[in-house]
Amino acid sequence: MKTAYLFLTYLSLLTLCLCLCPSRAATDEAESLMRWKYSLSSSASLESWSVNNISNHCIWIGIRCNDEGSVSGIDLSGADLAGTLDLFHFTALLNLTTFNLSGNYLNGSVPAALGNLTSLTLLDLSNNSFAGAIPPEVGRLTELRYLSFSENSMFGEIPYQIGNLRKVRFLDLGSNYFETPKWSRFPTFPFLTHLNLGINELNLEFPHFITTCLNLTFLDLSQNKFTGQIPESLFTNLVKLEYLNLTRNGFQGPLSPNITNLSKLKDLRLTENLFSGKILDSVSLIPSLQNLELYNNSFVGEIPSSIGLLTNLRSIGLGMNRFNSSIPRELGLCNKLTYLDLSQNSLLGPLPPSLSNLGNLSYLRLFKNSLTGEILTSFITSWRKLIWLVIQDNEFSGELPSEIGLLTNLEYLFLYNNSFSGTIPPEIGNLQKMSWLDLSTNNFSGEIARVINRLNGSWKTMHYIPY
Ligand SMILES: *[C@@H]1O[C@H](CO)[C@@H](O)[C@H](O)[C@H]1NC(C)=O
Ligand SMILES: *[C@@H]1O[C@H](CO)[C@@H](O)[C@H](O)[C@H]1NC(C)=O
Ligand SMILES: *[C@@H]1O[C@H](CO)[C@@H](O)[C@H](O)[C@H]1NC(C)=O
Ligand SMILES: *[C@@H]1O[C@H](CO)[C@@H](O)[C@H](O)[C@H]1NC(C)=O
Ligand SMILES: *[C@@H]1O[C@H](CO)[C@@H](O)[C@H](O)[C@H]1NC(C)=O
Ligand SMILES: *[C@@H]1O[C@H](CO)[C@@H](O)[C@H](O)[C@H]1NC(C)=O
Ligand SMILES: *[C@@H]1O[C@H](CO)[C@@H](O)[C@H](O)[C@H]1NC(C)=O
Ligand SMILES: *[C@@H]1O[C@H](CO)[C@@H](O)[C@H](O)[C@H]1NC(C)=O
Ligand SMILES: *[C@@H]1O[C@H](CO)[C@@H](O)[C@H](O)[C@H]1NC(C)=O
Ligand SMILES: *[C@@H]1O[C@H](CO)[C@@H](O)[C@H](O)[C@H]1NC(C)=O
Ligand SMILES: *[C@@H]1O[C@H](CO)[C@@H](O)[C@H](O)[C@H]1NC(C)=O
Ligand SMILES: *[C@@H]1O[C@H](CO)[C@@H](O)[C@H](O)[C@H]1NC(C)=O
Repeated sequence: MKTAYLFLTYLSLLTLCLCLCPSRAATDEAESLMRWKYSLSSSASLESWSVNNISNHCIWIGIRCNDEGSVSGIDLSGADLAGTLDLFHFTALLNLTTFNLSGNYLNGSVPAALGNLTSLTLLDLSNNSFAGAIPPEVGRLTELRYLSFSENSMFGEIPYQIGNLRKVRFLDLGSNYFETPKWSRFPTFPFLTHLNLGINELNLEFPHFITTCLNLTFLDLSQNKFTGQIPESLFTNLVKLEYLNLTRNGFQGPLSPNITNLSKLKDLRLTENLFSGKILDSVSLIPSLQNLELYNNSFVGEIPSSIGLLTNLRSIGLGMNRFNSSIPRELGLCNKLTYLDLSQNSLLGPLPPSLSNLGNLSYLRLFKNSLTGEILTSFITSWRKLIWLVIQDNEFSGELPSEIGLLTNLEYLFLYNNSFSGTIPPEIGNLQKMSWLDLSTNNFSGEIARVINRLNGSWKTMHYIPY
């Protein structure tokens, strides 16, 4: 009787335990997470990961479980973790589908055993201090949609096995020291929309596989050592592109008229390359453009009047080229412009009166050209948002309108090396935000000193650059 009773108690305890006590696999998961935690040199945010709590690992901070109580997601982004992944027991966590460690201080290399997590759809190791190469085993993670190693100190050739990740939509290897692989071993990525290879050590010609990724909307190859021409197939194939950044490379050649096939392009950055020739109507026929940066190339000839078709432009930078026309009056149609930089070219003639339509302008940089004529009162009264008026080293003349005192946001006023005349309007003294002012080498008459004294009284951060 007593024995039977005891046995029954034992049985019910066992049942209770089977229901409430975690399974062996779950305990393995919890224990291996604990072991990794103990290996870290900083893990204060993981307070809930404790041996007292070992059976509750599904409610630990950063942990998500599936319906069976097995870890399926880890999000420890920005958790102040320092240490390595060396003791992360990947094979105990085979149900992981999402893994986000972005924004920590993790270092060491990325272990090859990561390749065992074959259910992963999201892997974000960005913004850490990982070094070493991408393990080729990453090519086993064929369910990945999102992969980022960006902002680490990783190096070596990008393994061609990355080409196995046929489902990937977002691929970010930016801001590391990666070197050029044999791109010919890379296939197309049919679903890829976002590709960032910017800020690495990549060289040689434009990687051909990119022009077969027909779903791309974002492409960043900036700050590498690429050379040669941009393949025409980029323009004729990647018609969904919205962002194209090739800044700081050695790309060369003229801008193909086929670039107008990129009819969704919003942001085009070609700064600091070796592009040459005339821009003609090429970029002007992409009305979706909001930001156009062509600085420091060898473009020549005219700024086409068709630029006036780009009525969505917010920002345009054509500085440091060899444009040698006048400024087309159609530029005044781009009335959403907040940033206009045509500096360091050979532009001629006066500013067209239509520029008074640019009422949103905050930054105007026209320095080092051969521009002539006056700064019209109508400009000043409509450019009320100006923060920078940087037009030195030109041939501007005439008097400064006293309305300049209305530009209360002005911080930089550089007029030096022009032919302005008349007296300096004392209203300049009203400009409380001014921090840099240089009026030198002009034909102003009267007492500059009087204005400056007044400035000295009220503007503590004032830097006056004297004659
Ligand atoms: C993965 O989850 C399943 C249930 O969904 C479970 O049977 C299995 O033990 C788990 N694997 C690991 C390694 O925890
Ligand atoms: C266990 O983890 C939960 C969830 O993070 C937390 O609220 C609780 O305080 C922890 N309990 C112990 C004993 O650490
Ligand atoms: C990872 O976490 C960071 C910070 O919360 C977040 O910005 C990022 O989008 C996450 N990554 C993914 C792929 O969701
Ligand atoms: C990188 O991570 C640090 C620490 O979490 C964070 O402060 C910073 O904003 C992150 N940088 C980016 C670009 O996300
Ligand atoms: C990781 O960083 C810590 C602290 O800066 C350092 O002591 C350790 O040597 C680094 N480990 C590796 C593998 O780079
Ligand atoms: C995990 O990955 C390592 C390194 O790639 C490999 O040697 C090991 O066999 C894998 N383990 C399992 C269970 O797949
Ligand atoms: C683009 O992606 C969609 C799904 O997002 C897919 O249906 C389509 O086949 C892809 N297009 C190409 C050309 O690969
Ligand atoms: C390149 O340009 C894109 C926008 O087109 C921008 O989001 C990205 O940050 C730029 N890359 C770098 C390295 O500045
Ligand atoms: C523009 O692309 C077509 C193919 O669509 C090609 O035949 C033509 O040569 C290209 N134009 C230039 C200037 O390269
Ligand atoms: C591509 O651009 C060229 C040159 O501007 C043009 O002749 C051609 O019709 C465009 N093709 C498409 C499909 O828009
Ligand atoms: C312009 O680009 C060249 C390389 O093409 C570079 O050496 C130079 O520093 C750049 N100039 C400026 C002012 O950025
Ligand atoms: C502009 O430069 C081009 C090529 O360098 C030259 O042929 C043309 O005459 C120049 N135009 C003006 C107005 O100086």
